[in-house]
Amino acid sequence: MRVLVTGGAGFLGAWVARRLLAAGHQVRIFDRSQDRRLVHSILSDAATVEWCHDDITQAEAVESAAEGCGGIVHLAAMLTPACQANPVLGAQVNLIGTLNVFEAAKRHRIRSVTYASSAGVFGADDGAIPYPDTHYGAFKLACEGSARAYWHDAGIGSVGFRPLVIYGPGREVGGSAGPTIACRKALAGEAYAIPFTGETDMIYVDDVAAAFEAAVTRTIAGAHVFNLRGEVTTVTRILAEIEALVPGARLSAAGGSLPVTAHIAAHDTSSVLGPLPHTSLREGLSRTVQYYRDRLEAQREGQRQAS
Ligand SMILES: NC(=O)c1ccc[n+]([C@@H]2O[C@H](COP(=O)([O-])OP(=O)(O)OC[C@H]3O[C@@H](n4cnc5c(N)ncnc54)[C@H](O)[C@@H]3O)[C@@H](O)[C@H]2O)c1
Repeated sequence: MRVLVTGGAGFLGAWVARRLLAAGHQVRIFDRSQDRRLVHSILSDAATVEWCHDDITQAEAVESAAEGCGGIVHLAAMLTPACQANPVLGAQVNLIGTLNVFEAAKRHRIRSVTYASSAGVFGADDGAIPYPDTHYGAFKLACEGSARAYWHDAGIGSVGFRPLVIYGPGREVGGSAGPTIACRKALAGEAYAIPFTGETDMIYVDDVAAAFEAAVTRTIAGAHVFNLRGEVTTVTRILAEIEALVPGARLSAAGGSLPVTAHIAAHDTSSVLGPLPHTSLREGLSRTVQYYRDRLEAQREGQRQAS
């Protein structure tokens, strides 16, 4: 099956594309960004990927990109800080962009859409009843409502996932990128402060990609939304784990906690999606450090050969 992955030039998109290609599917990435470096660093077979460089706010562009696709993974979005800086643009990209994706599915009779919602639909105190404190969370919650309307009005099934902090190789953007950036900075010997403190829920990127793969490759009836939990931890423990992997790392943390509760309610995904992998925080951080270590060594080798 050919799968349209919107936002596929980004962090999670690269990992979803990697899984889909490994399972024998074709991948068409739709992304405004022309920067293909992340996809090439995460995928060994990136040459087979088709690219559409356009804007998710442009309905016709999304519709034409969906032609010939059997499934859609919709990830294109502005993250929390970008929505805070420009809420109107945030609504155009995150909300209208999502409607454009469902309209494209309707136009091409694609029976379901798999999309990224977020644990940002929750506020700081309650991980069961959505009550967002951010524009980003408010737009994601509105997308979930529209997904239900598309099921009722047009019979388009959907699965929306609500992860909290996704971490792993390639995570560089957004308010919760700190733990991943800390892995890279530690190896480079640079001082770095994770810009938040307290508790949060951390989920390894390939576990999230596996959930998207499971959803997009199944026949979906209904409009489902699932909280996607990883491991609840403190920033203090994250620092300790990275320091154990990179002795001498110069890391710290500063600021308040994230505006989303760390304790999001457990949802049973198994009846719709089957079993999903769960990578421990220790293992996920170890893989992340290894990725940046390999990259750093390759860069140093390149510099040695050039000099
Ligand atoms: N990273 C996390 O911790 C996290 C947590 C919960 C939910 N999510 C959601 O997962 C999805 C992917 O997040 P990510 O971490 O990979 O972010 P990312 O910023 O790395 O990727 C998003 C991609 O969307 C593209 N994009 C942005 N605006 C666009 C537009 N107008 N038209 C076309 N493309 C556009 C960007 O160029 C980028 O490649 C997003 O929907 C995000 O809200 C992420």
